[in-house]
Amino acid sequence: MGYKDVPRSKAKKESQIIAILNQKGGVGKSTTAVNLAAALGEYNKKVLVVDFDPQGNTTSGFGIEKEGLEACVYDALLRSVPIENLVMETPCKKVFLVPSTIQLAGAEVELVSVMAREMRLRDIIVGLKDDFDYVFIDCPPSLGLLTVNALTAADSVLIPIQCEYYALEGVTKLLESMKMVKDRLNRHLETFGVLLTMYDSRTTLSNQVVDEVRNYFGKKVFQAVIPRSVKVSEAPSFGLPVVKYAPNNKGSRAYMQLAREVIRRG
Ligand SMILES: Nc1ncnc2c1ncn2[C@@H]1O[C@H](COP(=O)(O)OP(=O)(O)O)[C@@H](O)[C@H]1O
Ligand SMILES: [Mg+2]
Repeated sequence: MGYKDVPRSKAKKESQIIAILNQKGGVGKSTTAVNLAAALGEYNKKVLVVDFDPQGNTTSGFGIEKEGLEACVYDALLRSVPIENLVMETPCKKVFLVPSTIQLAGAEVELVSVMAREMRLRDIIVGLKDDFDYVFIDCPPSLGLLTVNALTAADSVLIPIQCEYYALEGVTKLLESMKMVKDRLNRHLETFGVLLTMYDSRTTLSNQVVDEVRNYFGKKVFQAVIPRSVKVSEAPSFGLPVVKYAPNNKGSRAYMQLAREVIRRG
C-alpha cells in the first residue's frame, strides 16, 4: 500500500516537521527517531521519518537493508529524483521512511556549490508535509550543511541528551547554530523539546544529569525519560523498533509515554 492510501489521524492538527538533533554521536537520535515514530503510529498518527544521516542507522533500525536500495534521500537532494518515489513502508503501522545510505556522505561536499544550498531539503519535503501528521528528520552527528538543511526545513527541534558525563557539553554550540538558522533562514524554528536518554536509575550521575538538564531547559524537558535497556540496544539487530520487538520493556513504555507528550504538545 502506498503512503497516499493511508489516512492521517482524525484530529486535524497541522502537520509538523521535527528535526532530531544533537551534534554528539551516540546520544540516542536514531533510536528516538525509530521508536518515537513507531509509538506515534501505535497512537494512529501518520508519520514520515527522513533518515538524513549517511550512517543510515534509522534505515537499518526499521529492518531495511541499505545494500538493496536503488536510491536514497541523496538522490532527491542532489539528483532531482522526486522524493515521493523514495517513501517506503516500514514494519510499523502508519510509519513511512525515506531511507539514507552511505551515498549521502558525499552530499555535504556536493551541496557547497549548489544554489540555495541550505534550502534543498525544505524544497523537496514541502510537498510531502501535508500527507503526514509528523515528519521527523534524523540528523547526522555534526552541525554541517546537512544539519543546516534539516534545521531550515523543520518547524522545531527535538534534542536528545544522554544521561552521561558532559551531558550539556556542546549544547551552547547547538543552540547557537539553531539561532543562526532562525535569524537567517527559518524564523519560525523553535525547540520542540529536550529528551533525556539512557537514564540509569542506579547511578547518582544519571540523577545529577536529570537535575542539571531540567534546570537548564525548564519546561522544554519531556517528563518521559528513556531508561538504558539492553532490549532497546538489541532491537535494531532484529530490524524492529523496541516498541514492536518488546512492547512491555521499560524503554518501550517510556517511548509510548513520550509519544503521548508529543501529541499533547501539538
Ligand atoms: N535507551 C537505550 N538503552 C540502551 N542502549 C541505547 C538506548 N538508546 C540508544 N542506545 C544505543 O546507543 C547507541 C547509540 O544510539 P543512537 O540512537 O544510534 O545514537 P545517535 O543516533 O545519536 O548516534 C546505539 O547502539 C543504540 O542501540
Ligand atoms: Mg544516528
